[in-house]
Amino acid sequence: MKSFPPYRIQVVREIPITTRQEREEVLAGAAYNMFDVPANKVTIDLLTDSGTGAVSAAQEAAAAGADRSYAGSDSYFRFREVVAELTGQPHILPVHQGRAAERVLFGSALGPGRISLSNTHFDTTRANVELTGAEARDLPCPEAADLDSTDPFKGNIDLDALERTLTGPDGGRVGQVLVTITNNGGGGQPVSMANLRAVRRLCDRHGVPFFLDAARFAENAWLVTQREPGYGGHAPREVAQEAFRLADGCVTSLKKDGIAPMGAFIALRDAGLAQRCEANLIATEGFRTYGGLAGHDLERVAQGLREVLDPHYLRARTAETAHLADLINEAGVDIVRPAGIHALYLNAGRLLPHIPPRGFPGHALACELYLAGGIRCAELGSLYLGRFDDAHELVAPAPFELVRLAIPRRTYTESHLEYVADVLSSIAKNPERVPEYRVVDAPPVLRHFNLRMRQVPRDR
Ligand code: F0G
Repeated sequence: MKSFPPYRIQVVREIPITTRQEREEVLAGAAYNMFDVPANKVTIDLLTDSGTGAVSAAQEAAAAGADRSYAGSDSYFRFREVVAELTGQPHILPVHQGRAAERVLFGSALGPGRISLSNTHFDTTRANVELTGAEARDLPCPEAADLDSTDPFKGNIDLDALERTLTGPDGGRVGQVLVTITNNGGGGQPVSMANLRAVRRLCDRHGVPFFLDAARFAENAWLVTQREPGYGGHAPREVAQEAFRLADGCVTSLKKDGIAPMGAFIALRDAGLAQRCEANLIATEGFRTYGGLAGHDLERVAQGLREVLDPHYLRARTAETAHLADLINEAGVDIVRPAGIHALYLNAGRLLPHIPPRGFPGHALACELYLAGGIRCAELGSLYLGRFDDAHELVAPAPFELVRLAIPRRTYTESHLEYVADVLSSIAKNPERVPEYRVVDAPPVLRHFNLRMRQVPRDR
């Protein structure tokens, strides 16, 4: 039987319909930087699944009744109850978004000379590790390097590499192991419970704290029920609870699986660490019972956390992404396999072999999706991950040239996604028409947000 989303849509927002000429002007005016394109010129916005999901009537009803007391508000206690039940952790601190959770936790857990080990650090996560003076080291499993492999858990951390590092000369400097579920920086692939249990054992053996970056904990739990032997009959809530309990704590952005516009939390087992985090939180985010969130945000995330683990919702969302993946494959475009849930990662390097890394095939495809259909998405290739010299020439390309199509929760219907596949299919019919791009100007930090690019005319 075909799955369907367990909700009907009662409030809608109009989306802009533009002409190709308008889009050409807008994109040139934005110096070919997607972050400078105004949202009211974007028809289908697949830039991120973060803070872009539709809220439910129940979330808005809860928000309307929010308590904005500075200390000990009713909204805080409702939020706390939901998060405690989910994570099983005794110390819970609200923060305004995931990167604030990272800054507060890593500021207390890491520092100069320390090392953070991860399956893959998300970009803000890496930045917050490095801002403490520590080193962020990625140890993705070997299967992750094969984009076409259909291994079910390509988000896993490489356990051999983890053990080697913990027992090797750098072992004493490891300040944390941070496992990202699902692995956003690694193709949105899930992490198995067996992998999490093995990390737990290694961390116990070496006395190193084990944290989760649990931004997409519900989608990871769902994929475990679908792919991991022994978890077939489990409710996603049980799997998520087990994952949180295996760790010593977590940083969790709630803009993804909290299905909320804003919010995050830190949950911790260790009272001393929680106390240090709390002092930092109060000085920089807000008091411990609101942490930078308004009462209505606390209510929306508490209700969102109840809704996100509904198996009907997770099944329908997974089917939606899988349907788009099928259409994209039929159009002759390869994606990182197997399809995850929050996003599909297009293999732009393979679709556009005439564009060398210095012409940025991922960026070229992202620009073409906008020009051809008003679709906005993000490059994850040499523009984002490559190394550049002072003249903005690429000196070391990224291993892959990808484009991420992130799917906001409860926001687009199947026909919107079919439109995306149609646009991609029209590009894939004449890929050699897609032009190259060059960097005109790039700031030294947070490059991809502030890049200025130019198109290389095709007839040259
Ligand atoms: N960790 C992961 C795995 C993320 O994907 C993100 C954000 C964060 C932490 C930071 O959370 O945005 O609440 O501060 N990812 C968004 C994205 C921005 O588009 O993937 P935040």
